Amino acid sequence: MSRSAHPAGPRHGDVLPEGHYTPPPSDLNSLDPRVWAQTVERTAEGALSVGGVDVRRLAEEFGTPAYVMDENDFRARCRAWREAFGPDADVFYAGKAFLSRAVVRWLHEEGLNLDVCSGGELATALAAGMPPERIALHGNNKSMEEITRAVEAGVGRIVVDSFQEIARVAHVARRLGRRQPVQIRVTVGVEAHTHEFIATAHEDQKFGLALAGGQAAEAVRRVLGLESLELTGIHSHIGSQIFDMAGFEVSARRVVGLLTEVRDEHGVELPEIDLGGGLGIAYTSEDDPREPHEIAKALGDIVTRECEAAGLAVPRLSVEPGRAIVGPTAFTLYEVGTVKELEGLRTYVSVDGGMSDNIRTALYDAEYSVTLASRASEAEPMLSRVVGKHCESGDIVVRDAFLPADLAPGDLLAVPATGAYCRSMASNYNHALRPPVIAVRDGEARTIVRRETEEDLLRLDVG
Ligand code: LLP
Repeated sequence: MSRSAHPAGPRHGDVLPEGHYTPPPSDLNSLDPRVWAQTVERTAEGALSVGGVDVRRLAEEFGTPAYVMDENDFRARCRAWREAFGPDADVFYAGKAFLSRAVVRWLHEEGLNLDVCSGGELATALAAGMPPERIALHGNNKSMEEITRAVEAGVGRIVVDSFQEIARVAHVARRLGRRQPVQIRVTVGVEAHTHEFIATAHEDQKFGLALAGGQAAEAVRRVLGLESLELTGIHSHIGSQIFDMAGFEVSARRVVGLLTEVRDEHGVELPEIDLGGGLGIAYTSEDDPREPHEIAKALGDIVTRECEAAGLAVPRLSVEPGRAIVGPTAFTLYEVGTVKELEGLRTYVSVDGGMSDNIRTALYDAEYSVTLASRASEAEPMLSRVVGKHCESGDIVVRDAFLPADLAPGDLLAVPATGAYCRSMASNYNHALRPPVIAVRDGEARTIVRRETEEDLLRLDVG
């Protein structure tokens, strides 16, 4: 039986199974530069290459599945953010998106700061030599141990998230004889247009202290009253994978509103504001993200305008992009194991990874694109679902995509834009071994995070 049951994709009048279909590109071999890392191209032989290295060589040398990261693209994005925001602002890369020692070194070299939100991320940052004054510690329930380690190390900023935490950080700083710079995380009451699980500035959720009802103002009073804390500013993060700048503008306006109240009540002008991360990236050709210079201009303009209106000196601005820096720089390389056509529905293409290396599709209904990476194909488009090898039917990597109908076991597939929140949220479900991260640059590939082994799994199992 042929596997070209849906040869031309969705056409007017077609009855297609439930799903969201990006129409198949006129050429399945084409690569949309918005979703691929900068140096990815299809070579004359038809296979993809990145940083001058053929993916077939990567698969042979490092195995699959593997996250493949374009180091030059990562560095270029860091520079674009730095240059867009200029010398009067700071860019903190959000380490939760993906963190490793190599990444910390790249950030350091490219002049970025680093936001960490756990002891593990802090340990990685320090181990790789990030100067502590360029590190900010986040989190809504930092342990005493995490706070102590951060204050001892001399981190440049702790973003406090609750009244209890204000007391805890003050206590640790006093005990260690330090005066710790802190920002207060506020919830500005913005409904960001993104998935419910990753929106963070509406009132009914766990983060921050609300502006409405005066919790944030009370937090300011408490911090200003504590000798061992230095209140440097106000922090707001409204959510993640956001395209619309309107939420950031409301957030900036409300944060400046609080700075004005603080000046009026305490006679103090706080020197910093941080507007968080959350800028969206293109996962498919339908997404249209803003460029760093547009973002910098929109945020800079609104902060300047609001401060001028309030008669405040313009504070130093910082932002915390994670996904927007690392997301587009990597793709996941998989090998096809089985191809199963379900007549009248779609073709299920099973790869050698799945929800253990990319939980985002199952967790957030995220959409991804995919391409045949080991060769070009002129075959008809075939409506496909790329699935993993885990023991549940929600184990989907790419829900709806068109792949060439001659796809066969042994082919390599590449799923772009997996640099953020894939390796960092990877699990050992079904005792899967978490894939390596391979950095490619100028014709050379090297492992920056190695593949897990069965020994790694058994080492933790001490029963
Ligand atoms: N700053 C703070 C305080 C944050 O909580 C976050 C993300 C960021 C910055 C970076 O946001 P980004 O620029 O990467 O959007 N696992 C979810 C995303 C969760 C984001 C959590 N906080 C996902 O895979 O979509």
